[in-house]
Amino acid sequence: MKKYMEWTDELSVGIQEIDEQHQILVNLINMLYEAIIKRTDAEEVETILAELLQYTVIHFSVEESLMRIFDYPNYEDHKKTHQKLTSQVIELQNKFKNTQVSISVEVLHFLRHWLADHIMGDDKKYVPYLVQKGLQTTWAKQRSWTGKIWSFIKT
Ligand SMILES: [Fe+2]
Repeated sequence: MKKYMEWTDELSVGIQEIDEQHQILVNLINMLYEAIIKRTDAEEVETILAELLQYTVIHFSVEESLMRIFDYPNYEDHKKTHQKLTSQVIELQNKFKNTQVSISVEVLHFLRHWLADHIMGDDKKYVPYLVQKGLQTTWAKQRSWTGKIWSFIKT
């Protein structure tokens, strides 16, 4: 079955871990789409939305940590964009919780753009800077999460 949001090379920023995290967000949007199409119960939709929010917060803080570590000049602006994107998901979540109105396909279109536009527009801008500052583009997979962060900055 064709996925609602396909992962394409266009979405890759060229940093393995960030790409993997973005893929998780893509999967969550696809899960939400399938839940809506199949008219899964509201509880399930709420759970996926909560997961999307939770993972968005985690992912944004990973990106923000990297930007801070490497003194990214547009850190503040990027952080503001993250805050805006996060509050848009919170808003969606509250709307769904309070009104129990089913999530429309328009909302899904919004989320697809929400993610794709941010990756292709904002995220791709920090990559050359971080790589030039010594950021590793692939992780040492056997390491723990904190180990990964350290292997990132030890060049
Ligand atoms: Fe970002």
